[in-house]
Amino acid sequence: MTELKTALDGFKAETALVLGSGLGSLVERIQNPKRFPYETLDGFPTSGVSGHAGELIAGTISETNVVVLSGRAHYYEHGDAAAMRTPLEALKTAGVKRIILTNSAGSINKKMAPGSVMQIKDHINFSGTNPLIGEPTDNRFVGMTSAYDKPLRKVFRKVAKKNDIDIHSGVYMWFSGPVFETPAEIKMAKRMGADAVGMSTVPEVILARFLGLEAAAFSVITNYGAGITGSELSHTETKEMAPKGGEILGRLIEVAFKEGV
Ligand code: HPA
Repeated sequence: MTELKTALDGFKAETALVLGSGLGSLVERIQNPKRFPYETLDGFPTSGVSGHAGELIAGTISETNVVVLSGRAHYYEHGDAAAMRTPLEALKTAGVKRIILTNSAGSINKKMAPGSVMQIKDHINFSGTNPLIGEPTDNRFVGMTSAYDKPLRKVFRKVAKKNDIDIHSGVYMWFSGPVFETPAEIKMAKRMGADAVGMSTVPEVILARFLGLEAAAFSVITNYGAGITGSELSHTETKEMAPKGGEILGRLIEVAFKEGV
C-alpha cells in the first residue's frame, strides 16, 4: 500500500477524471498509461460493483496529464456517503486542482434519449444524507451556489458546439440506490426540476468543493427513468448502454483538452 503522491513518482496532473458504470472504455483514450490497482493505493476503495474496474490510471489525453479513477465507491455499498473522501484528499495532495466526474443516469427529460450525454449544471440531493456529516470544522458549511464550475461548463459547451458534439445540460438528482426508482419517484423528480436521476457523483462534488477542487460532471444517459417506457430497469442495461454515450463523452474530453480546457 502506497500513498498516491508517492506512487505517482513525480507525475503531476491538475485534472482527475472519475469514470462511471460502463464508462471504462474512456481508459483507451489515455496515452502512456501507468496503472495502479486500488488495492495498492492507501485509502482507495475496492469497489464491488460490476462495470467498475477499481484502478487508477495516470497518463495523458490530448497531451494533457490526467489521473483517471476507473471505479468508485458508492453510498449504497456500505452506507458511507464519504466513501470517496480519502481518494479525493489523496488527489488533492498529489496536486490535482479539478475533477471531472462521470456517471450513468436515467433520463426524465424526453429530449434526452438513452445514448446521449448531459452536462450536470446543478443537483438535487435527495438521498437524505451528506458526506460532510460528522466533519467537525466550520469548513463543513460549503457554499453550493457554483458547485458545478460555471466557466468550465461554458467552455465545455463551446467546445462541444464547435466540434458538432451534441450534449444536453440539466439537473441531476441523487437517489441513494441501490434499487432503481419507482415510477412515482420519477414523476416526483420531474416535478422537482430534475432532468436525470442516479446513484453517485453528488457526494463527490460536495467533497470536491469542500476540498477546494473545481468540479465538472457529465451523465451518460443509459435509460429513461422508471415508468416512462414501461420496461423494467436493470444494471445490465446500464452497462450495455453506457458505451454509446461514453464514446461521445470521450470525444468531448479529448477535443476539450486539445483546445486547452
Ligand atoms: N436510476 C438511477 N441510477 C441509474 C439509472 C436510473 O434510471 N440509470 C443508470 N443509473
